[in-house]
Amino acid sequence: MRKLLTAALTTAFVLPAVAAMAAPPEDVVKARQGYYSLLGLEMDGLAAMAKGEVPYDAEAAKAHAANLQVMTTYSPAGLYAPGTSKADMPGKTRALPEIWENFPKVGEKGAAFREAVGELASVAGDGLDALRPAVGKLGGTCKSCHDDFRATDF
Ligand code: HEC
Repeated sequence: MRKLLTAALTTAFVLPAVAAMAAPPEDVVKARQGYYSLLGLEMDGLAAMAKGEVPYDAEAAKAHAANLQVMTTYSPAGLYAPGTSKADMPGKTRALPEIWENFPKVGEKGAAFREAVGELASVAGDGLDALRPAVGKLGGTCKSCHDDFRATDF
């Protein structure tokens, strides 16, 4: 049991270390922010529909959801290479150092996000009344991770 746990932890921590050696920290931060910017872009389109700022469009909603689903298949380990927190690179990133102290918790937040994207994708084409709560739930998973692991300022 103990051996298994150690192996699991080692794997989780080795992956980012490999990524750190491969890419300069500035590039890791740029990629990380790019990844989340893409999430933000898709989410903005969905939120605008959910809030009634733009008319509901089933095809557009499905396209946003499909793009988000692609993003959930991307393994984010390399985006969290050690040495790329706000403490390491003040002014460049809002990623709080707590991330690196609590990978399992970050992983849980990521899992909730992926699950919510799956639910959203299954109803995105079913009308505004179906879309709205799914967008709300997904937005809650974004916020939950930001509250704990993203600083308000760079
Ligand atoms: C597992 C944690 C986590 C989840 C889930 C998450 N984010 Fe983030 N997000 C972060 C962190 C950490 C940053 C800060 C990245 C940095 O500054 O290096 C961030 C940054 C951002 C940014 C700013 C990017 C930039 O250029 O500074 C946007 C936009 C964003 N997230 C949108 C979203 C949306 C939309 C969702 C949900 C659909 C989401 N995030 C889900 C952790 C998360």
